[in-house]
Amino acid sequence: RLEKIWIGFGVAMLVVFLSVIGISAFAMGMDPPTGHSHGMDPAKVDSTAPFDKPGLKQVGENEYEAVMTAFAFGYAPDNMEIPAGATVHFTITSKDVIHGFQIPGTNVNMMVLPGEINHLTHTFDKPGTYLVLCNEYCGGAHEWMKTTIIVK
Ligand code: CUA
Repeated sequence: RLEKIWIGFGVAMLVVFLSVIGISAFAMGMDPPTGHSHGMDPAKVDSTAPFDKPGLKQVGENEYEAVMTAFAFGYAPDNMEIPAGATVHFTITSKDVIHGFQIPGTNVNMMVLPGEINHLTHTFDKPGTYLVLCNEYCGGAHEWMKTTIIVK
C-alpha cells in the first residue's frame, strides 16, 4: 500500500514538473520578437548609427571611442591608428556571424555577436603595431581574418 502511495506521489510530481516546463515554454513563446534590448538586424548594420560610419572619435582627453564592424573576413576600419596612451572604448558589432576580437599580448578578448553592440575598454600604453584577430571560427577564411591597431 505504501508503495502505491509513493508511486502516486511520484506521478503527481512528474505532472507538476511537466506543467512547469510547459508553462515556461509557453511564456517564452509569448515574448514579442522586439523584446531584445539592443538587437538589430545584422544585414542593416551598415545603415544603422553609429556603425554606418566606423572609425575613431575623440570623447575625452586621450580617450576615444572606436566604432568597428566585424564581418567575414575582416574588420572596419582596417589598420586603425591611435595615439599612444589612449584609452579606447571599443563599440563593435558583427554584420553576419559570430566573430572574435582578440589582441594577443593584452587582455582584449571578446566575442562579437551579430546585431549586438559589444563593448570593451583598453588603454594602449605602449606604442607599436597590435594584431587584432578573430578567434571564433567563422568560415573558410577565418584563419586570415585580422587587422592591426597602430599605436604611435
Ligand atoms: Cu571571423 Cu573567425
